[in-house]
Amino acid sequence: MEALKYLSEAAQQADPGSSSHWDKYHSSFGFKEGRFEGLVGFGQSRSRRSLPFRLLEQLFQKKFRKMSGVGFESLDKLAADITKKQNLTYSLDVLRQALTLSFIREHVPDVFSQDSIGCVIGDGFASMTSLLIASRSAGHVVLVNLTKTLLVDLWYLKIWLGDERFNESVDLVTNAEELAESLKKPVTGFTGLGRVIAIQAKDHELLSQCPLTFALNIVSMQEMDPHIISAYFDDLRASNSSEPVLFYCCNREEKYLPDGTVTRFSDYPWSSEDMILIDELCPWHQQYYTSKPPFFRPYDGPIRHRLAWLEKS
Ligand SMILES: C[S@@+](CC[C@H](N)C(=O)[O-])C[C@H]1O[C@@H](n2cnc3c(N)ncnc32)[C@H](O)[C@@H]1O
Repeated sequence: MEALKYLSEAAQQADPGSSSHWDKYHSSFGFKEGRFEGLVGFGQSRSRRSLPFRLLEQLFQKKFRKMSGVGFESLDKLAADITKKQNLTYSLDVLRQALTLSFIREHVPDVFSQDSIGCVIGDGFASMTSLLIASRSAGHVVLVNLTKTLLVDLWYLKIWLGDERFNESVDLVTNAEELAESLKKPVTGFTGLGRVIAIQAKDHELLSQCPLTFALNIVSMQEMDPHIISAYFDDLRASNSSEPVLFYCCNREEKYLPDGTVTRFSDYPWSSEDMILIDELCPWHQQYYTSKPPFFRPYDGPIRHRLAWLEKS
């Protein structure tokens, strides 16, 4: 069945991977006749604004752009093109993805090519997935998300790619056979870009059957229940690749979820055998901006990023 239709029906069901945080944020979610309602908690979905507002946005973003490193300009341009096509504002949420990808590519450039199979756990509006594909940083991107958010991710991917390219290069897989079929498809071909394999969070174990090169999780594990976080670490460690998976993890050091569950970065199931390349507070993830003074405000707690080769299980 067509991916968006399948997900819009599946989105009516309760999602087993959803924490109390996501039960709360998805409570007003709706999708009717091609329109979304209640898109809360996974990034700014503001429609593209007029030129004066865009210039103001750029002014606010100046201090974040100063944090960028080698190769940022081309990613920045791609992200601007993608959001323009999607009729979305180039918000701080999108800029964070471009800053992150240029940062990781600067540190481990050899990992990012069309020979790589990347994974994004918990994207928003498919911003990182689109950027990975557009920058040819991966040949396949495995995109895992809760069903409702995955529907939104694929919707915006479709707007960016157009119907024909979307149908050609995006597969929703729900079992091992479909995954194997999708992985066999060549990267180039009709689109010349990479392929996207979408997986519902409830089917996350399929990740262990992907020969992953790298995986990214940006402000997403902080909102999952600890047993779900552990399950993702198990999947990545068991990835069907001979080499360890490079994992970029950027999350709040500590966060309280609505039902009282606490998630702590230091409690994630890291191993002493993981080879850590970077471990520090993420410079572009300490503050955000608003239109009201004092304009720049801290997030509710420090956000740490760690880049590590995960020990294989
Ligand atoms: C705050 S948003 C972050 C979005 C984006 N990564 C960013 O940097 O702005 C958290 C994301 O995690 C996703 N998420 C929550 N629980 C998940 C789960 N069990 N598996 C996969 N993704 C999940 C949400 O649907 C959402 O897309």
